[in-house]
Amino acid sequence: MRVIRSVKQMQDICRKARRAGSSIGLVPTMGALHEGHISLIRASLKDNDITVVSIFVNPIQFGPSEDFKQYPRPVSQDEALCREAGVDFIFRPSAGEMYPAGFKTYVDVLELGSVLCGASRPGHFRGVTTVVAKLFNACLPDRAYFGRKDAQQAIIIQRMAKDLNFPVSVKVMPIVREKSGLALSSRNTYLSQSLKRDAQVLSRALCLARKLIRQGVRDPERVTGKMASLINTAKSAKIDYISIVSTEHLKPVRVIRGSCLVAVAAWFGGTRLIDNTVISA
Ligand code: PAJ
Repeated sequence: MRVIRSVKQMQDICRKARRAGSSIGLVPTMGALHEGHISLIRASLKDNDITVVSIFVNPIQFGPSEDFKQYPRPVSQDEALCREAGVDFIFRPSAGEMYPAGFKTYVDVLELGSVLCGASRPGHFRGVTTVVAKLFNACLPDRAYFGRKDAQQAIIIQRMAKDLNFPVSVKVMPIVREKSGLALSSRNTYLSQSLKRDAQVLSRALCLARKLIRQGVRDPERVTGKMASLINTAKSAKIDYISIVSTEHLKPVRVIRGSCLVAVAAWFGGTRLIDNTVISA
């Protein structure tokens, strides 16, 4: 396994590999790798000749009062996990390498980026799509792997890849959870034992939503109301949003029908967590 720090060198390696007929899988991450990331890496290893994992804590997707500085950066642990998994290359550029002086160009997916998480994190998805576009151009992947854990992000990236004709197949993989139901996240490391216990209400609320919809409830407000009551049983929980939206346009549905995304975001102490489930009714 090699660690590459320059865009030019990464492009040269990937161009050469492609010319030799090798397929390339890219797993974009911000590091602090856990089983969720590893599941994406495994999928890439299975589908491709070469797997590149990018590790870059992307400054432009964090708001001014968010956790950019605090975000965990266990560099050697991440490298060991990648090596163990069988990754071929880690792409770990510096912020200066990705955003040199004079940088002026952003990729913005309209509408999809301003709802749900985009409403409480203005500019976040513009930062995500910009860096992912740059990672696609640096690593020239045939396939790129994202987790459904960040369902809105995955939908926005699929839209971007389609709209901008990136010759990349965007794969979206299932959410990896702890036994308790809590979705794995690098930000779970911020949680104390008791906040972590409280945070289990998110996945429980999503299970409740599935159950209600299975029982025939079709009114989204009835479902989100019951979810909110359950989440509010956790002392520390502060709900940001609970929404039931269409999976394509992320617009709130009036009646639960077809494929819907039930998405939730809530604060537990100073940590904002998200979770979701896709339901077909
Ligand atoms: P990060 O939060 O490190 O996540 C990297 C990838 O791992 C994302 O596609 C995310 O959806 C996936 N992932 C995280 N937790 C998961 C889980 N429990 N189960 C399955 N997949 C999971 O998302 C980002 O980084 C960044 O926004 C990035 C796309 C790298 C752009 O900077």
